[in-house]
Amino acid sequence: MTGPGLTWLASLEEQARRTLPPEVFRYYMQGARDSVAAAEARGAWTRFKVAPRIFADVRDPDLATDFLGWTATSPFGIAPTTLQRAADPGGEVTMAAAARSSGVPVVVSSNATASFADIGATGANWWLQAYLPADRSLAVPMLAAAVEAGARAVVLTVDTPVVATKYDQGAVWRSTPAAWVRANLGTAADAPKAQNLGPADIGWLRDLTGLPVVVKGVLRPEAAAAAVIAGAAAVWVSNHGGRQLDAAVATADVLGAVVERIGGAVPVYVDGGVRSGIDALIALALGASGIFLGRPPLFALACASEEGVRRLFSDLAEELAEALVLSGCATPRESRGLLAPRTGTTAL
Ligand SMILES: Cc1cc2nc3c(=O)[nH]c(=O)nc-3n(C[C@H](O)[C@H](O)[C@H](O)COP(=O)(O)O)c2cc1C
Repeated sequence: MTGPGLTWLASLEEQARRTLPPEVFRYYMQGARDSVAAAEARGAWTRFKVAPRIFADVRDPDLATDFLGWTATSPFGIAPTTLQRAADPGGEVTMAAAARSSGVPVVVSSNATASFADIGATGANWWLQAYLPADRSLAVPMLAAAVEAGARAVVLTVDTPVVATKYDQGAVWRSTPAAWVRANLGTAADAPKAQNLGPADIGWLRDLTGLPVVVKGVLRPEAAAAAVIAGAAAVWVSNHGGRQLDAAVATADVLGAVVERIGGAVPVYVDGGVRSGIDALIALALGASGIFLGRPPLFALACASEEGVRRLFSDLAEELAEALVLSGCATPRESRGLLAPRTGTTAL
């Protein structure tokens, strides 16, 4: 038998739909406007094909992956998402505990519903995701609190000059306690977002926090290059899970060009629609150094709390390991160049 839904991993979305209050599930799932970009993300990975190596004698691939000087058990990480306490009472703290026990990094949204101190106390390798307000000084207390709580990088989200329109969100916000939204932001929660983000913000963040800065929301090679010149420690190809510009290109379709332009100067991370070890193999073959997931960890948290998130990452690692064996690759890195010829991708 074939088809989706036969494994725990493949049925996660459906399990979450049955578990979560409808308004919360809808909020997590939805994209901006008509959700076109959100719907296209997964299919974009499956359009790429791999031509496997043979005679490789690979039995037990080594998935260990460097994330800014820290070794993760696999190339996966947890992307920043809001409102995690709506999925599980422990919210971001439980998510961070799961990241720690899974050996993967976790990026915490600046809109997190738990305090940075409690997240840091889990011992997870956690990075702060930052939106900057128009008045940059309003972000300083939040950045200082993150540094104090042990954040190891700052992820600057650059695709949100305004929050894109998402329909029918009234119910989820009506049922959200105000204290959750302001867990780390204080009055900055209401401040207008910066619409003039520029390369100088990267240096400013790095100097202020002393942390590496990752630029998230890159979809163009020259934007990636500009971020690197400005001092970014990594670039992150993302269309925000389809929650910003609904006409945005799928990340799978631009990852290869960004990697080519960056030429190994810094790691290139990616997110968007990765739901299986096979999707991950394609992302790695296109040159990703790390692969982040947004909705699946939320769904796993909702269905089975810390244990669910752990299972998500162990199942993904198992699927990826099998895909690497079948491709004749001993490490994720060896999958680079395996893609079968297709316009705009690496030739064999
Ligand atoms: C419910 C939800 C909330 C999100 N909140 C943030 C956020 O606060 N900051 C941010 O940079 N990205 C945010 N994102 C985008 C994710 O970090 C990530 O780019 C996206 O979810 C990846 O796609 P995937 O969900 O298909 O894995 C959010 C995504 C979702 C689904």
